[in-house]
Amino acid sequence: MVSRSRPQGYSAAQIILHWLIAALVVYQVVFGEQIAEAWRALRRGVEASPEATFGANVHVYVGLAVLGLALLRLGLRLRYGAPPAPAGESAAQKWIARLTHFVLYLVIFGMPVSGALAWYGGVGAAAELHEMAKPAIVVFVALHALGALWQHFVARNDVLVRMLKPARQRG
Ligand code: HEM
Ligand code: HEM
Repeated sequence: MVSRSRPQGYSAAQIILHWLIAALVVYQVVFGEQIAEAWRALRRGVEASPEATFGANVHVYVGLAVLGLALLRLGLRLRYGAPPAPAGESAAQKWIARLTHFVLYLVIFGMPVSGALAWYGGVGAAAELHEMAKPAIVVFVALHALGALWQHFVARNDVLVRMLKPARQRG
């Protein structure tokens, strides 16, 4: 059932999934160079270095793990919802937060799917889209993290703390 009431905070499962996915996405972006090298070699029909092959395999499995965890996360989000925006926030701030979260959901679903289409299906356009997303991911993750830190240190509300401390045991 989709929840209509708004919870006070996130559950322990939602919090663990948030930080686990965040760590894996950062890993993918920071160490993505190796699969890019393996992909170039594959396209040219030459053999990739053992390091690039190993890095590519890790990238594929970490990326597929993100997709599985993201599905779990979306399920919890639809079932339990998310806490409301902090009181006193302007419509523009709410809109920016909503847009940023939407883009981040797009990243954790769209990146594994486009990557798999490239890697398993040989779809060149999917590979290009996947690679082109890199700077956008960096910008939106930075915006998101800065927003969280701003809420904590400048606006001094509980937005960051509620992604660290479970509200109550659910899900
Ligand atoms: C790569 C990494 C990340 C991804 C993909 C990501 C994704 C998301 C998404 C989709 C939400 C919305 C949750 C929902 O309501 O359904 C969220 C919430 C949140 N994230 Fe992240 N995040 C990342 C990194 C970070 C970092 C580095 C920080 C802190 C410095 C952070 C702090 C927060 C906080 C505080 C919330 C709760 C916002 C609220 O309750 O209004 N996230 N994140
Ligand atoms: C959350 C999941 C994922 C993220 C954030 C991600 C991120 C990235 C990034 C940033 C690059 C570019 C690296 C660079 O040029 O430095 C890249 C390349 C690549 N990734 Fe992923 N990836 C994810 C999942 C996957 C999956 C599941 C697969 C395959 C099943 C995959 C296959 C590829 C391929 C083939 C390339 C090379 C594309 C090219 O250079 O045109 N990725 N990935």
